[in-house]
Amino acid sequence: NWELKDFISTEIQRIKEVVGDKKVILGLSGGVDSSVAAVLIHRAIGDQLTCIFVDTGLLRKDEGKKVMENYGKHFHMNIKMVDAREQFLSNLKGISDPEQKRKIIGREFVEVFDAESQKFEDATFLAQGTIYPDVIESQSVKGPSATIKSHHNVGGLPEHMKLQLLEPLRELFKDEVRKVGVELGIPRELVYRHPFPGPGLGIRVLGEVDEEKVRILQEADDIFIQELYKHNLYDEVSQAFVVLLPVKSVGVMGDERTYEYTAVVRSANTIDFMTATWSKLPYEFLEIVSNRIINEVRGINRVAYDISSKPPATIEWE
Ligand code: XMP
Repeated sequence: NWELKDFISTEIQRIKEVVGDKKVILGLSGGVDSSVAAVLIHRAIGDQLTCIFVDTGLLRKDEGKKVMENYGKHFHMNIKMVDAREQFLSNLKGISDPEQKRKIIGREFVEVFDAESQKFEDATFLAQGTIYPDVIESQSVKGPSATIKSHHNVGGLPEHMKLQLLEPLRELFKDEVRKVGVELGIPRELVYRHPFPGPGLGIRVLGEVDEEKVRILQEADDIFIQELYKHNLYDEVSQAFVVLLPVKSVGVMGDERTYEYTAVVRSANTIDFMTATWSKLPYEFLEIVSNRIINEVRGINRVAYDISSKPPATIEWE
């Protein structure tokens, strides 16, 4: 694809010129946009780029390890991993209101990232994986509907940060970003991952979040995603995940009575994420997922499947 190769080589040249011998920092989330931006910039300026990866403790199972392996080992990028798990959990303690949880997670994220980036005193640029739809979204005048859920990861720079922005994907749509990613050698599986919300598992553990619930959810979610891949269903749905309800029910395991949490399996099909239908996954498949979750995840003894469309439900539960 010539247009794509053209974009990449032009952009690499431009980044080289703009950055010169200065240093760049980038917040790597593991998501498509920041990853593609990171690899592209790394191609241009190599070790002048340092990525900052914040482990909020609210990420998918083994996400931190995978990011370090993929981008650190495989692409040889400088990545500073910040373990902020304790900070996020302690700030979320006692909080069960969804909007409040989102605000706290957003605030803590900015705080951690801010503190970390200030350690890179010699950095001149802050790189971001901003893509064209983000640009549009932040320009549009928002009505009340736009704030049904506050999105925290689209935003400007904190006032006091005197870094210049470097946003090489600013003119691309998502599908173009993905193509660039594949062209740059990022594994397809990473480039075509389902979207993951900024507040992460913080809004998929319903109600109050604690370490144990997050662990339970990570295990269950991982099983669902594994099975989707195994049955070639991952690419057939737009977004799939597990939600953990703060509801316990009675079950039986062997001769023992159990009293454990309920997991909800959620899968949606959508084009624009504004409206969505629930995925008509095969019963046999759902049975496998349910059996595996209940048998393998300590803490869950019941699995339900979400058959709500958007609207009036939303894709996420909080
Ligand atoms: P809802 O739940 O509103 O979600 O139907 C629509 C899409 O947006 C994602 N989502 C978020 N993404 N930060 C994000 O980056 C957020 O705060 C956030 N909240 C929801 C959600 O996963 C779905 O893809």
